[in-house]
Formats: sequence, C-alpha cells, structure tokens
Amino acid sequence: MLIGIPLETVAGETRVAVTPETVKKLKAQGHTLRVQTGAGIAASAIDDAYVAAGAEITDAAGALGADMVLKVRSPSADERALMKPGAVLVGMLNPFDKDNLQALASANITAFALEAAPRTTRAQSMDVLSSQANIAGYKAVMIAADKYQRLFPMLMTAAGTIKAARVVILGVGVAGLQAIATAKRLGAVIEASDVRPSVKEQVESLGAKFIDVPYETAEEKEAAEGVGGYARPMPQSWLDRQKVEVAKRVAQADVVITTALIPGRAAPVLVTEEMVKSMKPGSVIVDLAAPAGGNCPLTEAGQTVVKHGVTLVGETNLPALVAADSSSLYARNVLDFLKLVFNKEGQFHIDLEDDIVKACLMCRDGQLLRS
Ligand code: NAI
Repeated sequence: MLIGIPLETVAGETRVAVTPETVKKLKAQGHTLRVQTGAGIAASAIDDAYVAAGAEITDAAGALGADMVLKVRSPSADERALMKPGAVLVGMLNPFDKDNLQALASANITAFALEAAPRTTRAQSMDVLSSQANIAGYKAVMIAADKYQRLFPMLMTAAGTIKAARVVILGVGVAGLQAIATAKRLGAVIEASDVRPSVKEQVESLGAKFIDVPYETAEEKEAAEGVGGYARPMPQSWLDRQKVEVAKRVAQADVVITTALIPGRAAPVLVTEEMVKSMKPGSVIVDLAAPAGGNCPLTEAGQTVVKHGVTLVGETNLPALVAADSSSLYARNVLDFLKLVFNKEGQFHIDLEDDIVKACLMCRDGQLLRS
C-alpha cells in the first residue's frame, strides 16, 4: 500500500507518526512510504534518515494524497482537502470530537482513532494514551524541578542542610505513576491521591504515601471502581472529604502535579484558589489536565503564570517536548496497530470481529460509526 507521513501542522506539535525505524519495518512488509520533507525534523529524524530507511521524500500533497495516511493529530480542513476519498487515516483523532469525525466521514475517509483502543493486555503495545502519558508524567516532573527555585533531594552540606521537596501527585494513572517514579529518583518526598482504590498498592510500591479517603457508601465505592479502568465522576460527598485531605497536603507541598481526568468530560477541580493561596511562595503546580479545563481553576492552558506567588504550568502537550522518544514510542504503537488491519498478503482489510479494530474505527464508507 502507498503510505504517506505528513509533517504535523498543529501549533507546537513536534511529533511524527513514523520514524526511520518503523519505515524500515513497513517497507519490509511490502509498503511504499512517502514522507513529507521535514516531517521528522523536530523529532530528531532528518529526511536523509528516512531515505536511508527506504522512504521517498515528498511534499504535503504527496504525503496526504496516499492510500493510507499515518498522523499524530487529526488533519485540519486544509489537510483533509488533500486526502483522497476512500483513504485510510490512522492517528490520535480524538474520539470525543464528533464534529471532526463527521467531517472525516463526509470526506469518505476510513478513520481509526488509536485513543479508543480498549485498555486490555493485547492492546498494550498499541496503547497511545499510555505511551504518551508516561512521557508526560516524566516531563511534568522535569519542568517542576526546573521552575522550582530549590532542590528536590535532601542535601547535608558543610553550609547546612537542605530539606527534600514535598511533592503531591493528584491522579495516579499512567502519567501520575511515572511522575511518582521520576520525583522519587530525584529524592522528593511524595504523597498521591486517586479515586480508584486499586492504585494504593502501586503508589506504595513506588515509595510514595497514598492519601486515603475511605468510601462511606455503596454509591461511592461503585463510582470509584470506574468502568474499563477509567474513573467515573465521584459523588459530591466523597469529593468533599477528598478536598479536605488534599487541602492539608497541598498547603505543605512544594510541588503539586495534577493528572486527574475523566474521559470525555471536563477535568475535576482538585486544587482550588484557596488551596493555591495556602501554598508557600515559590511552589509549583504542573497541571496535566490543562487541555481538559485543568484540575486547578487558576491554570491557563498553554501558559506558565504566577498567581499568589505560585507558578502554574498549563502546558498542553508535554509529550511534544520530548519529541524524539514520544515519536519513537508512538510510531511503534502505530506499527503494532497496522498488524491488525493488514492481512498476511499485505492487503488492507477491516476485521470487525477484532475488538481493537472495532473500537478504533470511527468512520467508514461515509458513515460516522460513533453515536
Ligand atoms: P486518565 O488519564 O484517564 O486519568 C488519570 C487519573 O486520574 C486516573 O488514575 C483517574 O482515576 C484519576 N482521577 C480521575 N478523577 C479523579 C479525582 N477526582 N481525584 C483523583 N484522581 C482522579 O488515566 P490513564 O492513565 O489513562 O489510566 C486509565 C486506566 O487504564 C487506569 O486504570 C490504568 O491502570 C489503566 N490502564 C490499563 C492498561 C492495560 O491493562 N493495558 C494500560 C494502561 C492503563
């Protein structure tokens, strides 16, 4: 199949969907690869490396006009206009953005949104949410350490002792767990909170303390168990008690990293303005939920601001700040997904009996398949 890899055009998007490593593998499977010039440059993959791996270099029309287009982000209207009716698109298309998916369906594009893959063991190697959230968790701690005007580890020096930084992590999914592990390596003292009881053990195994907020009703317990591994909105009664516990920890924290998300909804507010006011001057909040409205109402998406003496980082695309590794993991996710849509002869086919293919397929034959 003729596969195109365009340069991403969303502002700040530095990642690329295919690396020279995965070009080689796709080429070995008999495909022809056309990479838009400069597509990998921001991710440290130069055109020559793609050529050496067996790809042809082309322009935007050449890459977007292929039979299959591999992307990081969903195409813009201009990019969509360069795609052929009947083309196959694979990327992080945002399964909750119905208008965009409808536009893809109307352009007769067969589109797969990789974020919609189930969180099952078989889907792990193509789980883009995990591969990218892992990097976001790491980078969040790196940014916090950079903005914080003190050290993370405890230091005993001839000039006196420096206390270890106190880090609070709110939301312990993939990003939160990596944030704990990274902050731990830097020597911080860490506490973490999540609605899902199953994470307590994981938090403790990484050497952090879990902020326990016991469930008092069957409704609270049921909501906390979530669905498909994801959190559901918690009853107000539990959120009120969580707020009290979190407020105490936040007031003592030097760094707060928030990652709490509920798929398809606005992020829950976990750090109120009152809590920010209670923090020490020079403290840092990195709000990974910034693209979903933020876990702190003072966060400004895409900006770093100082309010009440606290630095709030609202970076909306942390994986793009580690473009080489995030592209390399994303490209392997894409490569593994493609194994499900090519048969042994290398022909494209859609097997709706496959739960991963079925979950990721957003539109086909002009029809939007999501309600
Ligand atoms: P996410 O990015 O959707 O959310 C981040 C975290 O925020 C979650 O842990 C969630 O429980 C938490 N959260 C939501 N509301 C909160 C609140 N009010 N207070 C505190 N925390 C709150 O999560 P992510 O990283 O996408 O993980 C989702 C699930 O999928 C997890 O259970 C994870 O273990 C599971 N998973 C399973 C995999 C597999 O089996 N293949 C692979 C990766 C993840």
